[in-house]
Amino acid sequence: MSKMAEIKRNTIRDIIAAKGQRKLVTLTAYTTPVAEILDRHCDLLLVGDSVGMVLHGMKDTTAVTLDMMIMHGKAVMRGSQKALVVVDLPFGSCEESPQVAYRSALRLMQETGCQAVKIEYNKFAAQTVEFLVERGIPVVGHIGLRPQYLNVDGGYRVAGKTDESKRELVQNAKQMAAAGCFAIVLEGVVSHIAGEVTHAVPVPTIGIGASTECDGQILVTDDMLGMFPRTPKFVRRYANLMETIDSAVKQYADDVKDQSFPSENEMYGVSR
Ligand code: KIV
Repeated sequence: MSKMAEIKRNTIRDIIAAKGQRKLVTLTAYTTPVAEILDRHCDLLLVGDSVGMVLHGMKDTTAVTLDMMIMHGKAVMRGSQKALVVVDLPFGSCEESPQVAYRSALRLMQETGCQAVKIEYNKFAAQTVEFLVERGIPVVGHIGLRPQYLNVDGGYRVAGKTDESKRELVQNAKQMAAAGCFAIVLEGVVSHIAGEVTHAVPVPTIGIGASTECDGQILVTDDMLGMFPRTPKFVRRYANLMETIDSAVKQYADDVKDQSFPSENEMYGVSR
């Protein structure tokens, strides 16, 4: 048996079993080298459609395609051995019908080798989740602030501020869990409502901007590493990579200009 085969990847059973026992550590991943690092520390890696904004300079996630998700999903699978990998169903790939969603999810799973897909909530999402799960595709639900719906929601809005929104959130979570989701991402949700939602469902909730009341946390990795000038309120910065890269590149530019790079040791001689 090879060494690779000895490392067991987390399954959806491991993720569900964590509820009430320990907090789930999850982050977004889009590339092989970063996935290799995150895999050492994370239970679950999400190839989020945030990749469009983070790596491709898009203004929101609505133009992200299934092919983009497949390319980044493959990269993350190559870089991970232990974490359960979930790939987002991008905008337009799953809303038309459960059948269309199935074909999109099947491509994600077969072409990337990922273990599950994620779907943002809409009125028909529970029906779609049931259709997928019945056909062997594990699904993570995503409720609260829904980035793919920013045009109908009128922007990115924190959820759970009114009694009606609170009721809706609990109902949406219950619906998604009953339809077969093995975990639910809660994005941009008022703290105490996140707790109510978490207690209302038998599967783990994974919060982003949704307090410690959730069963786990997720952040966009590039946000927590400080790759952007702006840090959203719910993000804690654990590094300042933008500054680190900027000063490294400035040093390189200076060295090239004053010819201190390359040095003797960094050149090929005839004898070496
Ligand atoms: O696309 C993404 O990165 C996400 C997370 C923010 C949960 O959906």
